[in-house]
Amino acid sequence: MEKLIFIIDDEDSILKMLTHWVKNQWEYNTKTFTTGAEALNSLNENPDLILLDIMLPDIHGNEVLGRIKQKYPNLPVIMLSAQGSVEVALESIRLGAFDYFPKPIDKNRLEPAIRNAIKNYDLEKELEKLKENLQREYSFDNIISADRKMQDAFKMISKVLDNDITVLITGESGTGKELIARAIHFNGKRKNAPFVVVNCASIPRELLESELFGHEKGSFTGAHQRKIGKFELAKGGTIFLDEIGEMEMSLQAKILRVIQQKEFERIGGNELIKTDVRIISATNRDLKAAVESKSFREDLYYRLSSFPIHIPPLRERRSDIVVLVNHFVEHFNHKLGKQIKGFAKPALKVVYDYDWPGNVRELENTIERCMILTDKELIDVDVLPANFISNAGNSNLGSNAVLFGEESPVIPFEKLKEQAIRHALKTTSGNIVEAARKLKIGRATLYRLMDKYKIESPKE
Ligand SMILES: Nc1ncnc2c1ncn2[C@@H]1O[C@H](COP(=O)(O)OP(=O)(O)OP(=O)(O)O)[C@@H](O)[C@H]1O
Ligand SMILES: [Mg+2]
Repeated sequence: MEKLIFIIDDEDSILKMLTHWVKNQWEYNTKTFTTGAEALNSLNENPDLILLDIMLPDIHGNEVLGRIKQKYPNLPVIMLSAQGSVEVALESIRLGAFDYFPKPIDKNRLEPAIRNAIKNYDLEKELEKLKENLQREYSFDNIISADRKMQDAFKMISKVLDNDITVLITGESGTGKELIARAIHFNGKRKNAPFVVVNCASIPRELLESELFGHEKGSFTGAHQRKIGKFELAKGGTIFLDEIGEMEMSLQAKILRVIQQKEFERIGGNELIKTDVRIISATNRDLKAAVESKSFREDLYYRLSSFPIHIPPLRERRSDIVVLVNHFVEHFNHKLGKQIKGFAKPALKVVYDYDWPGNVRELENTIERCMILTDKELIDVDVLPANFISNAGNSNLGSNAVLFGEESPVIPFEKLKEQAIRHALKTTSGNIVEAARKLKIGRATLYRLMDKYKIESPKE
């Protein structure tokens, strides 16, 4: 893009000389001003650099500089002055001038200064753009949901963006826990500081502590160098403790200490390091149950979950399946350069009825796969994974032999109960009294469980 340089000086000969030289040197556009006021009024033309004389007829150069910096803090300004007063020069630099040159101007020194100023400003603009993109990518607009409970959760979240309350996000694998954690960070006041992820499940136990807090050189065998931990890296930003339920007790105590005292030491070090981080954690485990079974510290649990957010699994918000399908079809059309219109009705029905144990991530992967495989405008059942079709309409579990055969996967207990209820309701054509009798449970219990598993009452 073409560059524009403002040159502000009340001496006509200087304006002419600089204009001529700048055009010759770089072919940049220039605009000249003889007063500070005129230049300030034209700042919306977005110059890339300003050359500014200190002695102007209307406003002092440093005053002009101050006003420029107020509006455009990154815009580089190079000061020029006939009077070589050190105080004035220092004041310019303090106000944010990029550089300062006495007159008569030494072009050999001004030339690299202009080059560097423009290069720096380009880099800063580039960085700003990257940050903006990142923030847009993790804006709440990119979290798709038509579900009421999710909408309510988003409303609640919007209230904690700008304070530092600890957030605990629970939900099955693939429900979007990390996506929400990122959205909280990138929409809050810490958005320009780092968002640092620590996956407590994927890092070997003996390395996790050093990953979190860092270590000093020689603090244990293999510690060849000082290592800066994630708490230190996240300074001013957010640390996301993913799979916090997998963290062992001794480390839980150390995390608790960081939260309470806002300071820690590197392993093998004795320097106390202050922390200023927001903590967001996530887990797909039932942490409360872990507290009860004494595998998770109760005090830490309460510290982490000042603001709990639960994301329901996809099968409990089936309306989201449809909106997410549209969202991902559009997303992958873009990524794969295709023009697929969506799913054909029979395929959409299978997708809608499927249980999505891997939640949104599984849905996302499935759609990408289908879109790669199909060569039609509408995705049909032929490209859906085989297990979707064989399971469709056959979600009731059959004989015990199939359920508990040696090769069979273990079915979670809750799942088994849900399936038993669905099966009973189906075989009794929705007769609650009959279904409860066959299940050997009370009617009230049946109603309660149906509510819990979101099974609709077939009659009434
Ligand atoms: N509501 C949503 N709208 C759009 N995309 C979503 C939504 N929920 C999840 N996703 C996408 O699904 C994928 C999985 O989300 P994410 O990694 O946040 O899940 P998770 O809960 O952290 O899973 P895990 O427990 O397996 O780590 C990501 O690609 C994410 O962008
Ligand atoms: Mg995750």
